[in-house]
Amino acid sequence: MRIAMIGTGYVGLVSGACFADFGHHVACVDKDSSKIDRLNAGVMPIWEPGLEGLVKSNAERGRLTFTTDLPGAVEGAEAVFIAVGTPARRGDGHADLTFVFEAVRELAKVIKPGTVVVTKSTVPVGTGDEIERILREEGVTDVSVASNPEFLREGAAIADFKHPDRIVVGAEDDRAQEVLREIYRPLFLNRAPILITGRRTAELTKYAANAFLAVKISFINEIADLCEAVDADVQDVARGIGLDNRIGPKFLHAGPGYGGSCFPKDTLALLQTADAAGVDQRIVRTTVEVNDDRKNDMVERVAGALGGDVAGKRVAVLGLAFKPNTDDMREAPSIPIVTALVERGAQVSAYDPVAREQAEKIFSGVEFSDDAYAAAEGADALVMVTEWDEFRALDLERVAGSLRGKVLVDLRNVYDPGEAEAAGLRYYGVGRGRPGS
Ligand code: UGA
Repeated sequence: MRIAMIGTGYVGLVSGACFADFGHHVACVDKDSSKIDRLNAGVMPIWEPGLEGLVKSNAERGRLTFTTDLPGAVEGAEAVFIAVGTPARRGDGHADLTFVFEAVRELAKVIKPGTVVVTKSTVPVGTGDEIERILREEGVTDVSVASNPEFLREGAAIADFKHPDRIVVGAEDDRAQEVLREIYRPLFLNRAPILITGRRTAELTKYAANAFLAVKISFINEIADLCEAVDADVQDVARGIGLDNRIGPKFLHAGPGYGGSCFPKDTLALLQTADAAGVDQRIVRTTVEVNDDRKNDMVERVAGALGGDVAGKRVAVLGLAFKPNTDDMREAPSIPIVTALVERGAQVSAYDPVAREQAEKIFSGVEFSDDAYAAAEGADALVMVTEWDEFRALDLERVAGSLRGKVLVDLRNVYDPGEAEAAGLRYYGVGRGRPGS
């Protein structure tokens, strides 16, 4: 199958590389010529485990190409995927579809009858209808428009793409269904379930999935607060409820609130869709509020562990990316937390295994260290913000030796409180009994 992938962001690049790895011929298109030049030279625009090797091996086999030439890429393609960004529009949380519609208008000039246009970007309900309308307006006929939302996570993108829990296809005609079934055939062989549904349903399924996961996180974060008030342990509560198959163990890790390029944006966009439809979505609205407040609570937590005030204190921060295994800083909980600490007069030394370059563009007045121990040197408290694996095996006695104040604020519940105390640290986790008790 010949595929064109418009947009080489996270979803476009990973999907394009994986489709090529399935044996399809994929031309990835992007307007950013320097990005395309770098991709052609084997340089990845994002840090994602396994991606560079996958791109290289498929490019070498001639199945994966990168170009700025949209007409050339679309020529002969049976399916054209749109995987451009759909950021939140400034101010109101609406998904900004400018890039999607621009791509469709360009596509309209060159697309051949019989082609299937597929949205892979996360797009609000009704976007497929609008794409169809634009294509008609541009005089294009006999083209199918389908929705195929992507559920991969950053940091685990390739494994998620190749071993999905499910594939969702929203198609309004047989041709679109057949083409998408053919593209994903290697995954059916691995028994990945495919859900074929209406296009609007597929579009909404993506938002509903992300919103539900966000609800789970805000729920467990509130339960963590309750655990602190009543001296219970949220880790065990999460395990205790997660073993119930109806609830499931995943996405029940209490922490500093969710971040990233998806949950914050998609929950807001879902609320906008609901508003426009005149339907209140109280659970999602509250989830967003709980998550927004969470960052501030985390700053208070650090201040509390330092006796109520961070001014003049030195605070070491471990992990800046919104989650491990990525250099993505979008909506990272570290941003409001570190910013508030600096504003309140703390001196912050930070370390992240890969996000330093991105973080340097965001923070001012922060010292960046080369490793966790260097960050801890002379600090009054060590604050774990992002749970990179390399932090799990820290030598806590060495950390305690480096710190001036012996305070460990573990916002991801990575450490065993007993072990931390035994190493001479005052341990503050999230939802693990009364703080400091
Ligand atoms: C999320 C979804 O998990 C993917 O299925 C989806 O495809 C993607 O959004 C998207 O729409 O593109 P991602 O944003 O890469 O993926 O990252 P997650 O692993 O879901 O984490 C999101 C945030 O939730 C992170 O800040 C993470 O630290 C936080 N989180 C996650 C928790 O605080 N607790 C948990 O138990 C799980």
